[in-house]
Amino acid sequence: MDRNEPDPSGGLERITVIEHPMVQHKLTILRNKDTGSKKFRELIKELAMFEAYEATRHFQLEPTTVTTPLCETSAYTLKGRKVAVVPILRAGLGMVEGILELIPAARVGHIGLYRDPETHLPIEYYCKLPDDIDSREVLIVDPMLATGGSAASAIDFIRARGVSSEKIRLLVILAAPEGIQAVFDAHPTVRIYTCAIDDHLDEHAYIVPGLGDAGDRIFGTR
Ligand code: PRP
Ligand code: URA
Repeated sequence: MDRNEPDPSGGLERITVIEHPMVQHKLTILRNKDTGSKKFRELIKELAMFEAYEATRHFQLEPTTVTTPLCETSAYTLKGRKVAVVPILRAGLGMVEGILELIPAARVGHIGLYRDPETHLPIEYYCKLPDDIDSREVLIVDPMLATGGSAASAIDFIRARGVSSEKIRLLVILAAPEGIQAVFDAHPTVRIYTCAIDDHLDEHAYIVPGLGDAGDRIFGTR
C-alpha cells in the first residue's frame, strides 16, 4: 500500500485484539497493582504465547506422513517458515520465552530503546539482529504500545535491514489508540496484535488504564 493512500478500513484489518476469555482473565490479573513481579512475569510470558498463536495463523502447511503406534497416516507439517523474534529492551524480553516455547527454532534479535522521560521520544542504545533477518518473518515484541515512538523506530531498524513491512508483526500486550495510529501512519502494512486497546495516554504518556511501567514490574525496579 502507498503510504499516502488512505486505508479504507482505517487500519481495522491490520489490528487483532485477542478476545479469548483466558487472555482477558489473565490481562485483568496483570493490570492489578497488587500483582507481584513473579506472577507478572508468568502472565506476560503466557499472554505472549497466546499472541504468537494468532500471529502465526497465516503460516502454511504441507502434507507429510507420520507413523503412529497403530499405522501410517497422512498429516501436515509447517512449510519452511523462518522466524525472528525481536524484543524491544527491556520490557520486550519478558515476552520472548513464551514465544520461543511455541516457535523453538526462531532466532532472537534485540533492539535497545528507552523513552526520554521529558520528550517521551525513543533513544536507541543497542541493536543486534540475525544476519539473515531479511529472509525471516519478524515478530517484534514489547508489552506496551503507548505513543508508538519505540515501536515505529524498531520497525524502521528492521525495514532498513531489508525486511518488507508485510513480513513484520508487532505483538504488544496493551495498545493506546495514539500508538496504533502512529505505527500505522509510519508503517501502513505492518500488523499489530494486542490483548486490549486502552482508552488514552496520560500527561506522562502512560497508557490509561494500563498496567503501569511494564519494565519495572517485570524486573522489580522503580
Ligand atoms: C516502555 C515500553 C515500550 C515503550 C512504549 O519502555 O516497554 O518500549 O515504553 O512507549 P512508546 O510507545 O511511547 O514509545 P521504556 O522506555 O519504559 O523502557 P524499558 O522497557 O527499559 O523500561
Ligand atoms: N511504558 C510503560 O511501561 N507503560 C506505559 O503505560 C507506557 C509506556
